[in-house]
Amino acid sequence: MPEKGLIDELRDRVRKSPLPRHVAIIMDGNGRWAELRGLPRVEGHRAGSEAVRAVTREARRIGLEALTLYAFSAQNWGRPEEEVGALMALLAEYLDAERDEIMENGIRLEAVGEVERLPSFVRGRLDRMRAESAGNRGMVLTLALSYGGREELVQAARRLVRRGLPPERITEDALEGELWTSDARLPTLDLLVRTSGERRISNFLLWQSAYAELSFVETLWPDFRELSLLQAVADFQTRERRFGLTGAQVAGGSPGE
Ligand code: FPP
Repeated sequence: MPEKGLIDELRDRVRKSPLPRHVAIIMDGNGRWAELRGLPRVEGHRAGSEAVRAVTREARRIGLEALTLYAFSAQNWGRPEEEVGALMALLAEYLDAERDEIMENGIRLEAVGEVERLPSFVRGRLDRMRAESAGNRGMVLTLALSYGGREELVQAARRLVRRGLPPERITEDALEGELWTSDARLPTLDLLVRTSGERRISNFLLWQSAYAELSFVETLWPDFRELSLLQAVADFQTRERRFGLTGAQVAGGSPGE
């Protein structure tokens, strides 16, 4: 099969260069994928959850440390009730169906967001899976659920105030330590991917994306499978990351060289 050959070849290639430690994905385009096929939107989300399975498996296979998926934003609560209900049902179904795969592959499942807003049938499954997988060391798979980057920053500020920190002790490190991603012990974000051709961050990982590489791909999320992930990682490996320094400094020379 030509695609399988391509996947194997690309997988071998990306493994030979430094991998991003932490990849996050804005999984966009489920609705359009369904509309293009004359299907209800929920069918796009269903196909999207298949893509979640395939991409998670590939991420684990190449050895990413962390994969974070924007599954439901704080703003998504405003979608039609029927769609919100269908997404919650899909999440519950996913958590039931993936239990064995998560445990057999040593994946630690985490969640970031206002998880207390989730209906109890999702929250219960999520809490159980997080507790059960807490000791796993293979890869951390984080679902961003009822997540918003601004919401995360506001709650971090509130925590600092509650701790009674004086203004001079409110540092970048202190604030970062109160983010949900710090609770989940996630490494620094290296690569942020958005599917479906949109070029926006949409309130995802605002603090964490400060120095992340951004990748906007045309593929609709349900079509984003192993090959698409490998291509995004291969593209990341061609980027020069400077973190505000000059190219010469990063290459080990002195500034201005
Ligand atoms: C954006 O596409 C996608 C979402 C709002 C939900 C993402 C959910 C899944 C991929 C499935 C469930 C998740 C898991 C972890 C099993 P959109 O609906 O905004 O697409 P559109 O812009 O084409 O309308």
